[in-house]
Amino acid sequence: MNYLNMKDEKLMPVVVELNTLLANYHIYYQKLRNFHWNVLGENFFDLHNKFEELYTDVRTKIDETAERILTLRYHPMSKLSDYLEISEIKEVSPLQSDRDMVL
Ligand SMILES: [Fe+2]
Repeated sequence: MNYLNMKDEKLMPVVVELNTLLANYHIYYQKLRNFHWNVLGENFFDLHNKFEELYTDVRTKIDETAERILTLRYHPMSKLSDYLEISEIKEVSPLQSDRDMVL
């Protein structure tokens, strides 16, 4: 039991899911930065702005997710190598068309 009166075996699966979400958000965030910087073509201005809007929103979600884990008295994962290992979202090359970036 902990200060929340919840058993650790009930909390641990929640913490694992929150850390997986945190890893997904980090890779998603970096993909959006990548696309914001590297988008080319006729849709440049719309997509450049949209990617910035999305990564700005994700930055807030990353912090909220990490702090939620802390309120459960666990530590959020914080190593990029760990994020890459458990993220369900995978990195991609910046060298792709604007259309492929949004598929
Ligand atoms: Fe920018």
